[in-house]
Amino acid sequence: MAEVAKSLYPSKKTERSKIAIIGAGAVGATLAYACVIAGHASEVVLYDINKAKVEAEALDIAHGIQFTPMSSVSGSDDIEICRDADVVIITAGAKQKPGQSRLDLAGATVGLMEKILPNVLKVAPDAIYILVTNPVDVVTYASLKISGLPPNQMFGSGTVLDTARLRYLVSRETGVAVQNVHAYVAGEHGDSEVPLWSSAEVGNVPLKHWGPTLDGGLFDAALRERIRTDVVQSAYRIIDGKGATNYAVGLAVTNIIGAVMRDEQRVLTISTLLNDWEGISDVCMAAPTIVGRNGAGRVLTPPITLSEREGLTESANRLRKVARDLGF
Ligand code: 2OP
Repeated sequence: MAEVAKSLYPSKKTERSKIAIIGAGAVGATLAYACVIAGHASEVVLYDINKAKVEAEALDIAHGIQFTPMSSVSGSDDIEICRDADVVIITAGAKQKPGQSRLDLAGATVGLMEKILPNVLKVAPDAIYILVTNPVDVVTYASLKISGLPPNQMFGSGTVLDTARLRYLVSRETGVAVQNVHAYVAGEHGDSEVPLWSSAEVGNVPLKHWGPTLDGGLFDAALRERIRTDVVQSAYRIIDGKGATNYAVGLAVTNIIGAVMRDEQRVLTISTLLNDWEGISDVCMAAPTIVGRNGAGRVLTPPITLSEREGLTESANRLRKVARDLGF
C-alpha cells in the first residue's frame, strides 16, 4: 500500500515543459487548443497585445483541461508569460483577406517581427522558434536575420500543412489511409509550391506504378495537376468560405511541436535556411527535414526530376526576391 501511495503523490517536483504561442487569433487559439489535447507540455501559454481576447481564449481552453492530459493554460498581454519556454510559436500577423496571396502580407508581417522578436528573445533565448505567420518562408528568413539565431533553432512551418492536404487528396483517389501516403510538397508555402511526385509512394508502391484510382481512372499527369491545383487553392477556398484557416494548420503545427518536445526525429517539410539543397541556397523554403529536440536537422535529398528541380528553383527565386525587396 505504501508503495502505491508514494507513486500517486510524488514528493519530488515533476519536470515542467512549456509551449508559448504568440498571437491569440484563429490560428494561435486553435493551436493552443490542439497542443493541450495532444499533451505535449505541462504548460501552454498564449501572448497577445489584446488583453481581453487572450485572457478569454486561455480561460475557454483552461475550462476543458479536465478532459485532456494534465496541463495548465494561461494568457496574457505581458511577454513575461513566455519566460523560459521550450518552444515559441509565432502566429501573430496580418490576416489574409479573400483574394490576397500570402506574399501580399510580407511587408506588414516582417515589420511586426522586428517589434516582437527582440522582446520574446529576452525572456526565452534558448527556445526552439517556429514561425507560422505568412508568408512563412519570407518571415522565417527575415526573422533569422533579425534574431541572429542559428537556423536549427528557428524555422517555419513550411509546407507541413500542404503536404497533409496533398496526402488527403491522394488518399481519396487511392482509397489508402493518409498515414500510408508518403508524398511531400516542397518549396514556397504558397502558389509556387512543388509536389515531389517522382518520389511519392502509397504503401511501398511508387505512385507512378499505382494501378487504377478508386473511380477507375489513371494516376496520370492530368490527375496530378488537378491535385496540385487543389492543394494550392485550398487556403483560398477556405478563406473565401469562413475568413481564415485554423483547424488543419493547428494540428499540423502541433505535430511539429511534438517532434521537437519528444525529440522524434520526424521528417517534416518545414521551412528552413537552405544551403546548396538541390542547388538552392540563401533562402528559407520547405524541404523534407529531420526535426527533433535541437530543432531543424538534416535536410533530405530525395531523387527528383529535372522539372521538379526547375520548379523548386523558381519557387526559391520568387521568395528570395520578396526578401530582397524588403531589405533582407
Ligand atoms: C493556409 O495554408 C492560410 O497559410 C494558410 O491554410
